[in-house]
Amino acid sequence: MKIVHGLSKWSDFRLSINENQRIGFIPTMGALHKGHISLVEKSIDENEITIVSIFINPTQFNDKNDLKTYPKKVENDINMLSSLNITYLLLPSEDEMYKDGYNYKITEKNLSFKMEGLEREGHFDGVLTVVMKLFNIVNPTCAYFGEKDYQQLRLIENMAESFFMRIKIIPCKTIRSKDGLALSSRNSFLTADERLIAPKFYKALKSKKSIREIKKKLNNDGFKVEYIEEYDGRLFGAVKIGNVRLIDNEKI
Ligand code: PAJ
Repeated sequence: MKIVHGLSKWSDFRLSINENQRIGFIPTMGALHKGHISLVEKSIDENEITIVSIFINPTQFNDKNDLKTYPKKVENDINMLSSLNITYLLLPSEDEMYKDGYNYKITEKNLSFKMEGLEREGHFDGVLTVVMKLFNIVNPTCAYFGEKDYQQLRLIENMAESFFMRIKIIPCKTIRSKDGLALSSRNSFLTADERLIAPKFYKALKSKKSIREIKKKLNNDGFKVEYIEEYDGRLFGAVKIGNVRLIDNEKI
């Protein structure tokens, strides 16, 4: 695994990749866990070259405190990735990614205002803009995204189609703990007691009860419900336990 710090040398590395080789790309914000690793392993299975990026993207954080406290574990991430057969780990800097001071951005005008977009203003502008930038930098054959962030996945698929990007978006199943809790970098903030309650969120989403009943059950279990909503044949939810915000979704 070649670790590439910053973008100044990246174009030489990118040019050295043979045109005929399939390149799989996994953009991440680090603090890697088995969910991220499942995307990486799928890419390794399906491509000759696998490129992972770690970039904590400031523009997608509407809450500056959330950005400040977002887990940063690059050394640990490098250790996890080095045991896999990936070709490049790309670590761009904020100055390089936003040389224009976020003067240009991508805005989707429909789905990005629902659910996560309603709760987190400007979040998806930040996500779509950084993904577009990373796609242009890496120029992969295909890119892997988790169904854990299903709304994000849909928006990226639609962006790729709308801008005639020749990148295949590959959806990947949500990886969960045995008790059903979807793996997330933010789970590390849960206290022991909160961790015991957390799986009840996914259990409620799967329960086939009405949205009203699900909300009631979650409130009784100690969650603060932000939204439970049906969209595109799936049930989506965001809740808070203490200070930790969890999102999940399940096919109906
Ligand atoms: P991050 O939260 O680091 O997630 C990187 C990728 O891992 C995303 O595609 C996400 O859906 C996937 N992922 C996270 N947890 C997962 C799980 N439990 N099972 C399966 N996949 C999982 O999502 C982002 O970063 C950013 O928004 C990004 C796309 C990198 C843009 O900044």
